[in-house]
Amino acid sequence: MSNCNRKILVAGAAGQVGTELVPALRRRYGPENVIAAAHRTLPEESFRKAGPFVTLDATDEDALRGLVRAYDIGAIYHLATLLSADGERDPERAWHVNLGSLKNVLDLGVEFEMSQVFWPSSIAVFGPTTPLVHTPQRTVLEPTTMYGVTKVAGENLCHYYWARYGLDVRGLRYPGLVSYEAFSGGGTTDYSVEIFTAAVTRGHYTCFVDASTVLPLMYMDDAIRATMELMAADSSRITVRTSYNVSAVSFTAGELAAAVADRVNGFTCDFEPDFRQAIADSWPDSMDDSVAREDWGWKPEYDLSALVETMLNGVREKLARR
Ligand code: SER
Repeated sequence: MSNCNRKILVAGAAGQVGTELVPALRRRYGPENVIAAAHRTLPEESFRKAGPFVTLDATDEDALRGLVRAYDIGAIYHLATLLSADGERDPERAWHVNLGSLKNVLDLGVEFEMSQVFWPSSIAVFGPTTPLVHTPQRTVLEPTTMYGVTKVAGENLCHYYWARYGLDVRGLRYPGLVSYEAFSGGGTTDYSVEIFTAAVTRGHYTCFVDASTVLPLMYMDDAIRATMELMAADSSRITVRTSYNVSAVSFTAGELAAAVADRVNGFTCDFEPDFRQAIADSWPDSMDDSVAREDWGWKPEYDLSALVETMLNGVREKLARR
């Protein structure tokens, strides 16, 4: 953040990413300089007390403007969203929440001359006509979900605000994110998170995609580091203003279940695909993230075994805390 007297707003702070991005930003910029805003999902009390916390519906432009004024916000990390499965349950709302709120953030970014905006995109921008393996940075974007449609439109809107108004907007196409601190829910990659709690608490999981389903996934620490590194990079290095491919690991749901079974005695998994199978099948197996690597030095750290190990320890620790 270049104009360091102004504060950072994280909208959607209580979701899967925000729960871990807010503490990371607070460690870097000081707790009082990072305002966490949530709407429907409210965080735990310890999170609310760790720094400024407000409730906000980011689709309400006046409310957002009031907050930006009151706290002198100079940068926004806009994470509030409906994910792919929830978006198919209510496409109308997905459009309204995902793009309505983004438009507000970008407009206020220009109005208040903010130094930076971060908006996450997703593997959901891709579709069945995209090359599935090592999907390039620049390729066909014909998604089949409303979530994907909002991400493609949003990426282009971000690019437009950068080109037209000089707003420093940056984004990442996150793979499915795996973490244990918070569970956002409503996505197609949720099985890669649910399996760990199910394994530890019940010794069994029924997976909603079939065993051969491959998706690009990433442990949350890598995703937070990618976000912080992207935002800290000198703007002369940023050649992509839609959103960067970032990738870490790809494995099948069956390989994930086997890796969990290796570490949890007696764990069993069966596979009963539902409507999310078609969504998963339309997304890439792996992404080519060489542009992110070249532009700002992206490099993942967690492979499948580190991810599974860390998740199982984290889930056990979290359950013990309760
Ligand atoms: N994790 C998201 C989903 O499954 C993809 O961005 O919808």
